[in-house]
Amino acid sequence: MPDRRLIGSAAVLVLLLAGAAVALTADPPLDELLGQTPRAHELMRRYGCAGCHKIPGVAAARGLVGPSLEGLSQRIYLGRVVRNTREGLVNWIVDPRALAPHTAMPNTGISRQEAQEIADYLHR
Ligand code: HEC
Repeated sequence: MPDRRLIGSAAVLVLLLAGAAVALTADPPLDELLGQTPRAHELMRRYGCAGCHKIPGVAAARGLVGPSLEGLSQRIYLGRVVRNTREGLVNWIVDPRALAPHTAMPNTGISRQEAQEIADYLHR
């Protein structure tokens, strides 16, 4: 006869895993639920990035004007013209039109230091 305690433990484990799966796919994301949103999230809302881009981890960011920023660190070029280094990403966020005059992405007025915080978040 199977050990009841073993079955009980297995049931608890299944419930915990199910809970973790729900928490990981929850909307808003877990870090937002826990009130641990990185400052980059706040900046990406303030400067309108979230209105134009889908940004992983940022619940309100579902914009479809620009490309999704998911997996950004794996891309070779940004806006098809700039190498995707940290420096290239910061330059792009601060002044995309200096790099690609005809790009649809506007200059948002963001400071270099704020762009660095966003770049670190997107490249993490
Ligand atoms: C009005 C809409 C709009 C806003 C606001 C906006 N973007 Fe964009 N973004 C775009 C578009 C459109 C592109 C595609 C540009 C291209 O290919 O020329 C783009 C491209 C990008 C790229 C390059 C992605 C790639 O794979 O090539 C990054 C990174 C990016 N945006 C980040 C940001 C960040 C960070 C902000 C906020 C500071 C922001 N964007 C604000 C529309 C926007």
